[in-house]
Amino acid sequence: MKINISSQLPVSQTTSPIAARVMVYPFIANEKLPEQLARVARQAGLVAETLQQDFKAGLKETLALYPSRKGFDKIYLIGLGKNPQPADFTRVFRSFFYQNKKKLPATVYLYLKTAKLENAIEYIVNGVCLARYEIGVFKTDAQQGTDFFETDTALDILVAEKNIGKAQLQATAGEQMANTQSRIMTLVDAPANKKYPEKIAEFALKSGEMYGFDVKVFDQKQCEALGLGALLAVGKGSTENPVRFIVMEYNLSAMAQKPLKKIGLVGKGVTFDTGGVSIKGAGSMSYMKSDMGGAGAVLGAMEMAAKLQLPVHLIGVIPATENCVDGNSLKPSDVIHTYSGKTIEVIDTDAEGRIILADGLAYLKKNYEPDVMIDLATLTGNCIAALGYKAAGLLSNNDQLAQQLLETGQATGEKLWRLPLWDDYKDMMKSDIADVKNLSSLPIAGAITAAKFLEVFIDEHPNWAHLDIAGMAFGDSEYGSMKSATAFGVRLLTDWMRGL
Ligand code: BES
Ligand code: MN
Ligand code: ZN
Repeated sequence: MKINISSQLPVSQTTSPIAARVMVYPFIANEKLPEQLARVARQAGLVAETLQQDFKAGLKETLALYPSRKGFDKIYLIGLGKNPQPADFTRVFRSFFYQNKKKLPATVYLYLKTAKLENAIEYIVNGVCLARYEIGVFKTDAQQGTDFFETDTALDILVAEKNIGKAQLQATAGEQMANTQSRIMTLVDAPANKKYPEKIAEFALKSGEMYGFDVKVFDQKQCEALGLGALLAVGKGSTENPVRFIVMEYNLSAMAQKPLKKIGLVGKGVTFDTGGVSIKGAGSMSYMKSDMGGAGAVLGAMEMAAKLQLPVHLIGVIPATENCVDGNSLKPSDVIHTYSGKTIEVIDTDAEGRIILADGLAYLKKNYEPDVMIDLATLTGNCIAALGYKAAGLLSNNDQLAQQLLETGQATGEKLWRLPLWDDYKDMMKSDIADVKNLSSLPIAGAITAAKFLEVFIDEHPNWAHLDIAGMAFGDSEYGSMKSATAFGVRLLTDWMRGL
């Protein structure tokens, strides 16, 4: 599929013998709707009142028309609701193109000639392109040749003449974002036998090569030499699939001829979380292939920064490991010597994410001294208990950073909600025998105490935020009967960096 932007139906297309001509009209449910529908009715030779009666432009409402007049063979009306937000545009268009991609013809026209729609082109195209993504990649009976995205087709987007240039840029950004989000979703959706630490490292290396950023991968031996004791401890039960420590760097400072803001990201890269010796129930353990969703967000942000040539100095750190059960596994009561020099008493091996992040954060702080540090992790079930599947938890020691992230979350639809990081919770992580324990003795405030644990390893960095994305990285949707990847964080981090 190719996307074209123009202000009128291309002459070449209108005279060529296209099998079917389809027009897609999106509508916002405002006071202009009756008049707009009357115009469509006139064009199509239909009765305006009937159309106004049958279509109210509610969010995700669709209506297919087969006009009696010559012109388009089929017209789709798509509803966007009363006051659509960026994420609504993306959601509606992804859904529509996903549902219809097997039956759309060679050329589809998309009419966006209103100010509101023209301003949303990036999000609209983002949604259209995300519709290409399929989770059923291991099915052996996949049909070929009918998919709008996989064949030689065109989406012709119609905008006002004076806005063509701007629309072109926005459409490109939306498409680039969708491509990276889809790559990240493929990774997060990949099962544990096809995705282990080495595979995450391969993804990073390839991404760096394709989009232009540096990638260093430390294997187990090199991690030992570095002293990444926390990461290694969690990886002990996985002799077949040993740990990797991935450090990525993208820096536009030389080109900008000044030192740019240095942003450090850390992503939890647990490729499968069995819980370890403190083993999880079997119930929904399969979902724990998504326990590298934080790493996915960081990989996506690196890729987008490089693609868009954002004026930043970005460092991405991913401690990657499995959390498995084996005679060599980490055991409750073990004491770990971390990269920072501090010690951790292991109470529960299922609280493994914070353990590996301890090394990730300490390594980032010590070796790069970033201006700002953000970690993303599918860290606690307790965060889901607090916020459900509607927002990620945000914990930060910096109000300005927190505010920026909250606002970007609101604007992008990748929502965050702040939880307190007060020292009142600090004592709950005190260990009798080591510097800190990995699990509080009380089954309360779990998302907060996890963040208090992480805080021990940021070495008093004054500008840090922790995003607990446990409920957001993997979610229910119309695209499958079980949960699947969302690429949560890619859009959030990218738009936050663009706004700096
Ligand atoms: N990866 C899980 C957290 C998680 C739970 C992510 C559900 C996505 C969905 C994490 O490693 C974990 O196991 N957390 C435990 C900690 C507990 C042992 C204190 C949890 O939250 O239940
Ligand atoms: Mn766990
Ligand atoms: Zn985990």
